[in-house]
Amino acid sequence: MDVVVDPIKPNVGAVVYADRSAFRSSDFAQHCLELVEKHAALVFPRVGLSDEEQLTFTDLLGARVNFTTGVAGADAYAKDVYTITLDPKVNPDPEYVLGSMFWHMDGIVMDIPPPKVTLLSCKSPPDKGGQTEFANTVAAYEALPEEEKAELAGLRVVHSLVAGVREILNPEEIDPKRRGFKHEHPLVWTQRSGRKSLLIGCTADYIVGMPKAQGRALLARLLEWCAQPAFTCRHTWQKGDFAMWDNTGALHRALPYAEDSGRRMHRTTVAGVEAVV
Ligand SMILES: [Fe+2]
Repeated sequence: MDVVVDPIKPNVGAVVYADRSAFRSSDFAQHCLELVEKHAALVFPRVGLSDEEQLTFTDLLGARVNFTTGVAGADAYAKDVYTITLDPKVNPDPEYVLGSMFWHMDGIVMDIPPPKVTLLSCKSPPDKGGQTEFANTVAAYEALPEEEKAELAGLRVVHSLVAGVREILNPEEIDPKRRGFKHEHPLVWTQRSGRKSLLIGCTADYIVGMPKAQGRALLARLLEWCAQPAFTCRHTWQKGDFAMWDNTGALHRALPYAEDSGRRMHRTTVAGVEAVV
């Protein structure tokens, strides 16, 4: 199997060149899991996977999880494939897609372990904007001064859907069934392997036991730290591009794009295997 890995930056991102047929191979899937742990985000240029091929590869990586059932764009083209678009013909309820323009982790406010890997295929690229950016929250944590790491130890953060879309919607405008999605997490997640990452992003509402202003200022400063060029990379989509990233060790966001940009992405998700404790 010919696989070429071309790192984008020392701390984040790699472009992987592989034949489309590789995505049926469990050895290749295992290799990609190792690569995504190391590089946080992988981009596979112009492989042109079908929904079926993407689902097959998703299943080779782990258990498939679908947490968007009932959301506009869910299962529009294939079961367990979430269509990300602002096209009102496919998605008449775009608030959650608009929310993806802010740094976030997928599934962090749900009552499930944070999804392990998110996979995205570009079915139709935007004519302008709509790039995806990734930020490595493992490398960013590691690079913090030791005294700051000590200050963060033991802090806990409440993440909520309301906070995640606060730039777009007032709480009363959110679907009441989803308004209560909320989860408390440690600010620093130590996984069983010993790997530590920051659990932050637009869903992070406040720090438990800290005055709201001071807590939010700290969360904003940590987000700025993670978003430095050393920890981030950006992918400009072409039709057929495929990407996967480690949702437990990276933040992501889309750069703004217009409703009529033509951007349409198909997303699948691999379930997390480790609850946050
Ligand atoms: Fe997302």
